[in-house]
Amino acid sequence: MQKIVTRAIVHGVYIITTRTKERINGMTAAWVSQVSLNPVMLMVAIGPGRFTHGLIKESGYFAVNTLSKDQIEIAKLFGFKSGRKHDKFQNIEYFNAPNGSPVLKDAIAYFECKLIDDFKAGDHSIFTGTVTDAKIIKENADPLIFKWEDYF
Ligand SMILES: Cc1cc2nc3c(=O)[nH]c(=O)nc-3n(C[C@H](O)[C@H](O)[C@H](O)COP(=O)(O)O)c2cc1C
Repeated sequence: MQKIVTRAIVHGVYIITTRTKERINGMTAAWVSQVSLNPVMLMVAIGPGRFTHGLIKESGYFAVNTLSKDQIEIAKLFGFKSGRKHDKFQNIEYFNAPNGSPVLKDAIAYFECKLIDDFKAGDHSIFTGTVTDAKIIKENADPLIFKWEDYF
């Protein structure tokens, strides 16, 4: 079943970032979508074991950073190590969105979201957020499309 979903449901690849009082972190996510038009709201499905899961709840804000097709290595950097013991931002240039979420300087675009709700969905949690700030950073770049074989 999962093989069919992976081939036939299309996702981009994003870095979900957040900031608490103590630290910043980011993780790669493919399961991201718009879920409301007015207000504009996004969702991201995050496994409860991810460090980012607890940080977003603590922060109340998260940012969705859209990767471009030449950024598979960034997706691997944020997707294969946990921020619990590792500073994934060590060699990454970033700036802060208005509510403090770190934004990758080289992302295509970002959406900073105020956390509205989280729901359990099987083995993941769905976080929904209202977009409070958004910008296109790289005007003509193509997004990275998630392909299972690029990573696993
Ligand atoms: C291409 C790619 C897509 C991923 N998509 C998701 C996702 O949608 N949701 C999720 O919970 N984890 C996803 N992951 C796994 C997390 O990025 C990974 O577990 C990460 O190390 C968690 O980091 P953290 O512990 O610092 O939060 C993905 C990983 C990769 C490489």
